[in-house]
Amino acid sequence: MSQQQTLYVREHIFSGAIRVFHWLRALSIVVLVITGAYICWPFLTMPQSSDVLVQGWIRMVHLIFGFILVSVTVVRAYLYFFGKSDIERRSFRDVISAKAWWAQLKSYVWIGRHPHAGVYGPLQFVSYLGITLAAAFMCVTGLVLYANVYHEGLGGLLWQPATWLTVQMGGLAVVRLWHHYVTWAFVIFLLIHIYMAVWMGIRFKHNSVDAIVSGYDYHPKNGH
Ligand code: HEM
Repeated sequence: MSQQQTLYVREHIFSGAIRVFHWLRALSIVVLVITGAYICWPFLTMPQSSDVLVQGWIRMVHLIFGFILVSVTVVRAYLYFFGKSDIERRSFRDVISAKAWWAQLKSYVWIGRHPHAGVYGPLQFVSYLGITLAAAFMCVTGLVLYANVYHEGLGGLLWQPATWLTVQMGGLAVVRLWHHYVTWAFVIFLLIHIYMAVWMGIRFKHNSVDAIVSGYDYHPKNGH
């Protein structure tokens, strides 16, 4: 009987919390982009009727998922810095290594592989950091818009910092405009993110997409 070799190894890379928050964040971003698009272009509201509350309901959904995104953004930042597994924090070593950047860029044109210090490549790390900062920006500007509509409770508490920020940004219209512009960063990110996740799995024979569902990565024994 011929000897069978283990071709693939299984590695636990994402904790349950990271996976749950990934999908919660993905869901809230998709809902916020869709409801946000409707808020700025309310095509179902007939100009001749004043009792169509579609805009109000859509806006309510936008706010519910907006607060979910605010919570996820805070918890996710905590997990990055203080989570038990350091697999994400370790990835930062590659961001400050010119060798790692070069290896990653070469691997995109099929020249070699790029072993990681953690779980993300340097370009991947930088783009995730960028989209996280964009989410933080949307949370802050979203809360400013919220405080301008709801003056009691949380809105009241946020009123002073919201007014300060509104002045710094050049007025409420500008806040809303930036909240609108940055929405496009999420649309572009989503398309590239899904494409790259599938492509990486094919290129490096990883189960990259499944890993964020099951937590496990499978890859060739001597590959990375
Ligand atoms: C990925 C995150 C988000 C996206 C893509 C997004 C997108 C949008 C868009 C496109 C608009 C319409 C802007 C316009 O009229 O031109 C909007 C409005 C608004 N968003 Fe967001 N948003 C996000 C997060 C949030 C968060 C976290 C909050 C608050 C907790 C929030 C609260 C609001 C409010 C209050 C409005 C104004 C509604 C109105 O004027 O009727 N958004 N958002």
